[in-house]
Amino acid sequence: MKILVINGPNLNMLGIREPDIYGKNTYDDLCALITDYANIKGVEVKIFQSNHEGALVDEIQSAYKNFDGIVINPAAYTHTSVAILDAVKSVGIPTVEVHISAVETREDFRQISYVRKACIKTITGLGFDGYLRAIDTLIDNGK
Ligand code: DQA
Repeated sequence: MKILVINGPNLNMLGIREPDIYGKNTYDDLCALITDYANIKGVEVKIFQSNHEGALVDEIQSAYKNFDGIVINPAAYTHTSVAILDAVKSVGIPTVEVHISAVETREDFRQISYVRKACIKTITGLGFDGYLRAIDTLIDNGK
């Protein structure tokens, strides 16, 4: 099984940005956690991060016929991007939405998620572990 993990804007600043919300661990720590877990589970994983909406759309499109599942944290674009929603719908690949923080307990503008409509599951508030639970979800979904 091949899983694409997509991270949106400012997630490369993990460890520096708002550590009280996102924790002190870095983006490299997150990538290592995901890679190690994928190895244990015997799945191939590619991790992609961009601050650019179009680059995220390009990456989702390039997953077509190349990946069996997508884990996506669109970060701020969660709350604004119809383009990312349409891209996930276009490729038809089972996708899990992840947020490190408990977005449902935060500001009103974080209560909308466009991509959620195209996702088989949403995981929030589990910190970095949310990505691992998303991988579990995709593995179970593929059985
Ligand atoms: C986030 C939550 C978003 O509201 C925010 O814009 C982010 C990160 C999260 O992982 O908790 O950048 O997606």
